[in-house]
Amino acid sequence: MAKKIFSGVQPTGNLHIGNYLGAIKNFVDLNNDNQNKCVFCVVDLHAVTVAQDPKILRNNIRETVATFIASGIDPKKSIIFNQSQVGAHSEAAWILSCVARMGWLNRMTQFKEKAGKDKEKASVGLYSYPILMAADILIYDTTHVPVGNDQKQHLELCRDIAQKFNNDFGVNDFFKVPEPLIQKDFSRIMSLKDGLKKMSKSELSDLSRINLTDDKDQIINKIKKAKTDTLPMPSTIQDLNERPEAKNLIGIYSSLKNSTLEKTIQEFSGKNFSEFKEDLSQITIEKISPISKEIKKLLSDQSYLDKILEEGSKKADEIASKKIKKIHDIMGF
Ligand code: AMP
Ligand code: TRP
Repeated sequence: MAKKIFSGVQPTGNLHIGNYLGAIKNFVDLNNDNQNKCVFCVVDLHAVTVAQDPKILRNNIRETVATFIASGIDPKKSIIFNQSQVGAHSEAAWILSCVARMGWLNRMTQFKEKAGKDKEKASVGLYSYPILMAADILIYDTTHVPVGNDQKQHLELCRDIAQKFNNDFGVNDFFKVPEPLIQKDFSRIMSLKDGLKKMSKSELSDLSRINLTDDKDQIINKIKKAKTDTLPMPSTIQDLNERPEAKNLIGIYSSLKNSTLEKTIQEFSGKNFSEFKEDLSQITIEKISPISKEIKKLLSDQSYLDKILEEGSKKADEIASKKIKKIHDIMGF
């Protein structure tokens, strides 16, 4: 069946191997299936829910587009654009914020994590962020949303909002209720320094993540310094349960190899971590270096990237503004 795909990535810098394995690699596979209609969005409106320096933001928007293309998304096949250029996102977000309930948003764990102890000082945008995300998805009649595991709760909220709107206005099936596409084993890549913490763009220590722009030496150094335990490599899947760092590195290796945890465990069972880490460095370099070289090359031609965004925004706007017109009719505007 033809799928309508939408996903977004925030232009907040430091795109890492977690973003790649959890989300972008999946975007590429979906882009390559000719039956699918894909929209990939640089969600700059989401980025400003926390303070951004405008100059850095502008660069990060281009870097995110460059990363999409360098990873293998073809701008001729998929729409690539930035959210702020299509007004329908903000408008739909307002309307849907009148549909979503406070109680629903109050349950969002990512807001609690991001706002930290001082919730009173968080922006209102950070709180209503998942409603904008629902708007992004619903105005394209999206059927499937590829994301990492951390976005699961936001997608459930999006489904609830779609259903409530359809019910409230008696417009069965007006908003499609989208399905999440979350990979089974590799949807949550953890920090290289702490196997219980998600690999994150905003973590202070650069050693905690492999950035998609890291060079060969940085990759080797980071993997060498990655935390492990003192035991030899595990022999069964069950052995991984109590060993989060080992599980994470084996997961990264398996995903980069398009293999499974089971096969990787068989391959390295009983060996030393140092041996495994050498192979992990090698496969990481093999898969990431071509992407990082291509990102750098693309970034040297800003006008090309800006043109992709401009053309993508036009195409996105055509689809989204039609949906907004229908929303106006339904709501009595
Ligand atoms: P963000 O950088 O928050 O916009 O995330 C972009 C995409 O990467 C989303 O689909 C996230 O779910 C995914 N993602 C972010 N961090 C990780 C991670 N550590 N492991 C797997 N996927 C991730
Ligand atoms: N909230 C997502 C994240 O932080 C990014 C995002 C915004 C998104 N809008 C989206 C993802 C729509 C999927 C679909 O990772």
